[in-house]
Amino acid sequence: MRILVTGGAGYIGSHTVLTLLEAGHDVVVVDNLSNSSEEALRRAAELAGREAAFVRADITDEAALDAAFEAHSPEAVIHFAGLKAVGESVGIPLEYYYNNVAGTIALLRSMERHGVRTIVFSSSATVYGEHNPTPYIEKMEIGAMNPYGRTKEQIEDILSDLGASDGRWHIALLRYFNPVGAHPSGRIGEDPQGIPNNLVPFIAQVAVGRRERLMVFGGDYETPDGTCLRDYIHVVDLAEGHAAALRYLQAHPGVHRWNLGSGKGTSVLEMLHAFEAAVGAPIPYEITARRAGDLPAFWADPSAALADLGWSTTKSVAQMCEDHWRWQKNNPLGYQNS
Ligand code: NAD
Ligand code: WQD
Repeated sequence: MRILVTGGAGYIGSHTVLTLLEAGHDVVVVDNLSNSSEEALRRAAELAGREAAFVRADITDEAALDAAFEAHSPEAVIHFAGLKAVGESVGIPLEYYYNNVAGTIALLRSMERHGVRTIVFSSSATVYGEHNPTPYIEKMEIGAMNPYGRTKEQIEDILSDLGASDGRWHIALLRYFNPVGAHPSGRIGEDPQGIPNNLVPFIAQVAVGRRERLMVFGGDYETPDGTCLRDYIHVVDLAEGHAAALRYLQAHPGVHRWNLGSGKGTSVLEMLHAFEAAVGAPIPYEITARRAGDLPAFWADPSAALADLGWSTTKSVAQMCEDHWRWQKNNPLGYQNS
C-alpha cells in the first residue's frame, strides 16, 4: 500500500515507518520537525534498506497537505502528528487545540478532497480519565482530565461523527498505553527535547549521566510498593499494532477502537529496577511528592485487539529496558550532532 504518515519522524512514527517499509509498503512522511529530526528517517531507511519520501510541512497547512496527496497518491493515512506533553497543554491550550484538533480537521478535509478515507489515529489511554475502573475497556465512557487528553477525545468524536456520516470511511482509534523502548538495533529511539516528562526517558538520562537522579513522584499510593502502576508497551509492538489495524481496516469500514497495551501493570520502582538490570548498575533515585493529575494505577484490557486484529504484545519489560538502554547508551544526546 501507499501510506501517508503524519508525524512519521517522531518517536512512535519513526518505528512505525520502519515496520511499514520492512513490510513492503510505500511511505510518505509529513512532519514539521517541531519535535523530531530528519535523522530518524535516514536511520529508518538505513535499517529497512529503502526509504520513505519526506515532506516537511505542518498539518494545519491544507495547501501543503493537498500537494502531498497529489504528489504521492496515498491510499491510507496513519496520523501521529500532534503535541503530546500533558503539563505543557495546561499552560498553552490554544496551541494544543490548534495543532491537534484543527490540524486533524485540515488533514481530514484534504483526505476527503483526494478520496482517501482510511485513517489510523493515535489516541491515548488518557481519554479514559479518572472515573473508570481498571482495566480499561473500549466501550467505557471516556472523559479526559487535561487539555492534551481533551484534544484526543475531541478528535475521537470528530472521527466518530465522520464515520457515521459516510460509510466509505475506515477509521481506527488506537488508544496507546505507555510506549517505551526502542528498535533493538539501537539506531532509532525516543529523543525528548529538554527535561523528559515521562518516566523511562528520564531514567535513561540518569543512567547515561545527563541527570543526577530520578524523582519518583509519590511513594504512598495504595499499590503494592506505594508507587503508581502503568501498562508499558514496547514501541516495536506498538508499531506492529498499526500495521495490524491497517490490515483490518481494508476489509472493515466504520469506526473501530482498540486499546494497545499489554494488560499488565508495572510500578515505577519495578521499572527502575528493570532498567538497573539492563544497565548493570544502580540508578540513583529519591521518592518525592506526588505529581498533580497522576492516577494510582491503570492498565489495558487488550482482548479486543487480540480478537479483532490478532495482535498482542510480545516484548517484556526487561526487553523494553534493554532496548531503550542500548539506544540511550549509543546515542547519549539522541539525534543531536548527527
Ligand atoms: P513525537 O513528538 O515524537 O512525534 C510527533 C511528531 O509529530 C513529531 O515528529 C513532530 O515534529 C510532529 N508534529 C507535531 N505537530 C505537527 C504539526 N502541526 N504538523 C506536522 N508535524 C507535527 O511523539 P510520539 O511519542 O511519537 O507520539 C505520536 C502520537 O502518539 C502523538 O499524537 C501522541 O499524542 C500519541 N501518543 C503518544 C504517547 C506517548 O507516550 N509517547 C501515548 C499515547 C499517544
Ligand atoms: C509514568 C509513571 C509518574 C516521571 C503520560 C501521559 C499519557 C500518555 C503517556 C500521551 C507515573 C512516574 C514519571 C518521573 C516519576 N501520553 N514518574 N518520575 O503519566 O502514565 O502518561 O504518558 O498520550 O497521556 O499522561 O506516563 O511516563 O509520565 O509516568 O515517578 O520523572 O512514572 O508519576 O506514575 P503517564 P509517565
